[in-house]
Amino acid sequence: MRQAFDPTSESYGHGNNKTGETKRSILHPDLKTIPRQPQVQLIGNGIVYDHEGLAEAKLKHPHHRTFHKTVVPQEDDLAYTRFYRWHIDAALYDLAPPKVTTLYSLTVPRGESQTLRYDDGTGDELKVPLGTTAFVSGATMFDILPKELKSLAVRSKVKYAPHPYVWMAPAHAMSTGLGIETEGLELPLEELPPWEEEKIKVFPICWKNPVTGNLHFQVHPCGVQELIVDPLPAGADREGALYPDGAHLKDLKEVRDIIYKMQRPAIAPELVYPHDWDEKDLVLFHNRGVLHSVVGAFAPDQVRAFHQCNLAASSDPVGPSEEDVAKYA
Ligand SMILES: [Fe+2]
Repeated sequence: MRQAFDPTSESYGHGNNKTGETKRSILHPDLKTIPRQPQVQLIGNGIVYDHEGLAEAKLKHPHHRTFHKTVVPQEDDLAYTRFYRWHIDAALYDLAPPKVTTLYSLTVPRGESQTLRYDDGTGDELKVPLGTTAFVSGATMFDILPKELKSLAVRSKVKYAPHPYVWMAPAHAMSTGLGIETEGLELPLEELPPWEEEKIKVFPICWKNPVTGNLHFQVHPCGVQELIVDPLPAGADREGALYPDGAHLKDLKEVRDIIYKMQRPAIAPELVYPHDWDEKDLVLFHNRGVLHSVVGAFAPDQVRAFHQCNLAASSDPVGPSEEDVAKYA
C-alpha cells in the first residue's frame, strides 16, 4: 500500500535492516523489524509473543525521561506526559524522506487520558488520549508566521548533521520535544560512523506540496546543524527583513533558536491533532506535510503493538518556486 504513493521506492525510510545506521542511534531501541517484510517495524510497549516470526519482542514505548533534559516528576508520571519528539520520519542522511507513513494498530491498551505539559513557561497543557500520536500541519506552521519569518523561511535551507540520530544521541531534548537543548553534548563529527559530505542532506525549510502548491514548514529540529539563508531577491522590501544579504549560520544555539521560534507557534494546544487510537485503526499520513510526535507514558504491563511502515522516497522534496520566493520574501 505504501508503494502506491511512490512505486519505485523499496527500502525502509532509515534503510533496510540497519535501523538508524548503528546501535548507537537513538532510534535503535524503538523499532523491531518484521523478518519477512523488513520495511515494516513492530513498535509499541510490553512483551508481544509469536508475532510474524518474532518469538518474543520486548517493546518499549519511548518515555520522555530517556530523552528530555527535564522530566515530569515521578509522582506525576502516568497522569502527566509530554510530546516525546516532534519529527518527520526520515533518515536525514543519504536517503530521501518518505512521502507517506502508515501506522496500523494491532493492540491498544485502554486507560485514562493524560495531561500533556509543555513545561516551557507558557502554562500550555493539552488533554490527550493514552498513547496518542500527535500531529501538526506544516502548512499551518508556515501560514501563521509573521511576514519577516515567512521571508526567512522561503529563503532558507537547513543542513542536517551526518548520521543525525547518532550525532544527537548523547544530547537532551527541550521540554516541548521540539528540538535539542544546546549543551555541547552532540558527538563530534570525527566520532560518528564513516560519512561522506555528498550524502549530507541540505533541504529547503519549506517543501512545496505537489498537489496544492502550498508551502509546508518541514524541518526535523533535532537533526539540524546549520542554516543557509539566500539574500532577498532583487526589488524586495528590505524594511524589517532578516539577513537581507543572506547568511550561513553555523552556531548551533543560534540556528536552533531561530528554528524553534518559527516552529513553536504551530504546536500550540489548539493546533495539535492527537489521534485517539482504536484497535485496527490504519492511519496514513503525509510525512512531507506534517510533523508528528509519540506521546504518553505506559506502565510496563500495558501492551501496545503497532505496525509502522515508511519507504525512503525516490527523490528529495522540492522547495519554494521562484514565484513563492517573490511572493513571501
Ligand atoms: Fe515517526
